[in-house]
Amino acid sequence: MKALILYSSRDGQTREIAAYIANQLKAHQECDTINILQADNIEWARYDRVLIGASIRYGHFHPKVDKFVKQHLNELTKRPSGFFSVNLTARKPEKRTPQTNAYTRKFLLNSPWQPDCCAVFAGALRYPRYGFFDRFMIQLIMRMTGGETDASKEVEYTDWEQVTRFAHEFAALSGNVK
Ligand SMILES: Cc1cc2nc3c(=O)[nH]c(=O)nc-3n(C[C@H](O)[C@H](O)[C@H](O)COP(=O)(O)O)c2cc1C
Repeated sequence: MKALILYSSRDGQTREIAAYIANQLKAHQECDTINILQADNIEWARYDRVLIGASIRYGHFHPKVDKFVKQHLNELTKRPSGFFSVNLTARKPEKRTPQTNAYTRKFLLNSPWQPDCCAVFAGALRYPRYGFFDRFMIQLIMRMTGGETDASKEVEYTDWEQVTRFAHEFAALSGNVK
């Protein structure tokens, strides 16, 4: 049986984190990593655990994440599962737990799916890759929250050791497919 990692990523950071976790899991078991936007025909019988990772843009996860959870709730609750969110608010360590990160807390409060493990990772700030409007808006938010405002910069805040610890936690989840 394999592990399944689904990710929702706009600029690539969540995809990178998903790939990193998949690499960490290799020591334990095989793993498929799939973009949640292209996950229409999942052969659930092949997977004994599932992880979903999603980034925040303008306060929201991609709507497909909620849709996917509702659509596949039965399969998600049948097996050990995990969730991670990626955002820039989490660049502040005190906003990097499921309880202290507003987006993640809200997701868990409203979700019919309650994953067995959950993490919040700081994402990346890549000004040169954004269009004019997004660059302007992110700069504004960064100014208001005391972050990086130099629009020539790319900053990766992800704590890869935290990601490694979470990968091990996910790999260690016990339980069989019900
Ligand atoms: C247009 C835009 C809007 C964003 N909005 C938010 C936000 O509302 N809150 C937040 O904490 N981070 C926000 N971020 C930061 C992203 O969550 C962060 O860059 C993350 O690494 C993106 O992951 P992805 O590349 O997998 O999409 C935003 C980033 C962009 C480019």
